[in-house]
Amino acid sequence: MLWCRCGVLLALCICPLACLAVSPCPTGCCCPRPGFLVLCESLARFPRGLPPSLESLQLQENRITYITSGVLRQLGNLTRLDLEDNRIRAIQPGALQGLHKLQVLTLKGNRLTSLPLNLPPSLTHLDLSENCISALDLPSLSALVNLQDKSIIIDSE
Ligand SMILES: *[C@@H]1O[C@H](CO)[C@@H](O)[C@H](O)[C@H]1NC(C)=O
Repeated sequence: MLWCRCGVLLALCICPLACLAVSPCPTGCCCPRPGFLVLCESLARFPRGLPPSLESLQLQENRITYITSGVLRQLGNLTRLDLEDNRIRAIQPGALQGLHKLQVLTLKGNRLTSLPLNLPPSLTHLDLSENCISALDLPSLSALVNLQDKSIIIDSE
């Protein structure tokens, strides 16, 4: 799906061969800016072996069901994580804890039933719409001191 969306990003998205020459890119992913930006498609599992220097990870429209605590541990420089339109049912407690620079987290269109625990206080934008969240854990939200006006989106459809 991602490849189809890439009209304007065509120059970036035809690069996997060139990227591979520079640094390894996870299977099924495209690394337009090796070490900083990784785009992946049709993945059922979270990619492993991502570079620790990564700043932006776009995994929208895949089939990821679960985020374990280990997969994001090395990615302390991540500022943007897009997981829109996956099938995520659960995020293991602590999975997001080491993301000290994460500002934008998009979990729209998944199957979460509760707010993820240990959301990073650095978040400025959080989209949890189109999930199955029926109750909000207000103490978790109150830790998000950097959220900007209207930048948390939760609905219960
Ligand atoms: C994370 O970012 C800082 C500041 O830009 C940089 O000095 C550091 O090397 C980065 N860490 C990794 C693992 O790339």
